[in-house]
Amino acid sequence: FKSAVFAVVFEVFKFVRRQRFFCWLLHKRKEQLIMRKKVIIDCDPGIDDSLAIMLALSCDQIEVLGITIVCGNSPTEMGAGNAAKVLRQMNRLDIPIFTGERTPLKRDYVNALDTHGADGLGESFLDPVENFSFHTDAVSFLEETILNTHCSVIALGPMTNLARLIQKNPAAFAAIDELVSMGGAFKSHGNCSPVAEYNYWADPDAAALVYETAARQKRLIHMVGLDVTRQIVLTPDLISYLKRLDSKTGSFVEAITKFYLDFHWEWEHMIGCVINDPLAVAYFADHSLCSGFDAYTAVETGGISIGQTVVDSMNFYKKESNSVVLTQTDPVRFFTFFFSRLLNKAPDELDLLSDMVRSPKQVRVNS
Ligand code: RIB
Ligand code: CA
Repeated sequence: FKSAVFAVVFEVFKFVRRQRFFCWLLHKRKEQLIMRKKVIIDCDPGIDDSLAIMLALSCDQIEVLGITIVCGNSPTEMGAGNAAKVLRQMNRLDIPIFTGERTPLKRDYVNALDTHGADGLGESFLDPVENFSFHTDAVSFLEETILNTHCSVIALGPMTNLARLIQKNPAAFAAIDELVSMGGAFKSHGNCSPVAEYNYWADPDAAALVYETAARQKRLIHMVGLDVTRQIVLTPDLISYLKRLDSKTGSFVEAITKFYLDFHWEWEHMIGCVINDPLAVAYFADHSLCSGFDAYTAVETGGISIGQTVVDSMNFYKKESNSVVLTQTDPVRFFTFFFSRLLNKAPDELDLLSDMVRSPKQVRVNS
């Protein structure tokens, strides 16, 4: 009789524990779903844009509603085709791609194919995605989606689409939940001139309008600029590590970054390549990955310093902040975040990573 009672009690215990486990699992899943931040990625793929899209699609905290393309690294149609290649790699061809502006607001369009290769994807010359229907009118998609859902925007290219959105419907711009922009520089030197970063240099009028509108609407733009992104250096060792852990993902990353590594050796005399855009995505998912300060920021639209972000860190202009200027990051934490999401591995499974990541002191950030 006693053993029968014990057996029943044990079965009840196991049942309850199973229930508790499933409740925990449900709670975690629900937490993930509730915590998921809806976002539109506006970009100019582009090698680092492509890595950023891969990261966004690997993050539980992020729900990508669509990808809008702007003229930048690549001409708009080329960028859209490259975005589709990335979606195919990630098995996410369900995500819509919208082509946007083909020229800057005022300046002549200057691409960055010298950095990203003739195909805009590191001269990997991947086959185009067949039977994929690209949408047009990125600005209307931005307007309708922002107004109808509670969503954010991560801008990884020149801000021409966002400027056109402001001109079309400033209330839609005001309704953006969170705006994270890879662009600009506070103390770090530029990459298109001594003081200007490409995204804001390529269309300074658009960047200026976006920052002016943010000031007028009393909203903040999270500026992930060269001060932090220059600390994020993807090296051949890290790519090799990625390949060892997941040959499919690693081979794709290797294929699209080889040209970028050559470019960095030739022009920046460094082994490795600065991957700017993925840091903006990682920061969007986890703000603790970067730190900085609030300030009023304006963008120069003419003259020798065209495209420069003038960050009023000392409050000379006595204007309200319109930006969060990110200046500090932790490359080890970033690459742990990046690789763990890309590979779907727990951070403690990436045991070699911390020794492989170059620390800021080893990276010329403000030289
Ligand atoms: O200056 C770096 C930025 O310009 C990155 O977003 C890169 O992809 C290019 O768009
Ligand atoms: Ca970009």
